[in-house]
Amino acid sequence: MISKKMEEAINKQINEEIYSAYLYLSMASHFAEQNLMGFQNWLFVQYHEELGHAEKFYKYLIERGGKVKLMAIKEPPDTWKNPKDAFEAVLKHEQHITGKINELVDLAEAEKDRATFAMLQWFVNEQVEEEANAQEILAKLEMVGDHKRSLLMIDRELAQRK
Ligand code: FEO
Repeated sequence: MISKKMEEAINKQINEEIYSAYLYLSMASHFAEQNLMGFQNWLFVQYHEELGHAEKFYKYLIERGGKVKLMAIKEPPDTWKNPKDAFEAVLKHEQHITGKINELVDLAEAEKDRATFAMLQWFVNEQVEEEANAQEILAKLEMVGDHKRSLLMIDRELAQRK
């Protein structure tokens, strides 16, 4: 049986992951509005990934005999100045999530909850990838600046993500 403290922290993380999904879904629709359908595709795939993260925590909590408690999801922003501004927000958000995962790891250690500690290692590794992906796209956007044709090339590249 999982501790109440750990249960509460995982429920908060389910909310963080669903908010992440919500944020990226909002960003995807913002890019669709700008006719940057490759960017919208990348973010739509990311939206699904975040729901997958929430589901992983959900299933784990049930497996450990915990109670899932769903909380209100806050409203995400719906406009960004340009793609660079949006991907700065993605990177900042992923860094925030990494911080939250690290806090969960610290709590699992403090509670001597080895099962949760082991489960969280997947998320520790996943966050390395999440930050690297956002960083890579941001670096390209910084490189191209306002050059429209290069931006369309990045858009075409992001359309490939499945
Ligand atoms: Fe679920 Fe993008 O972290």
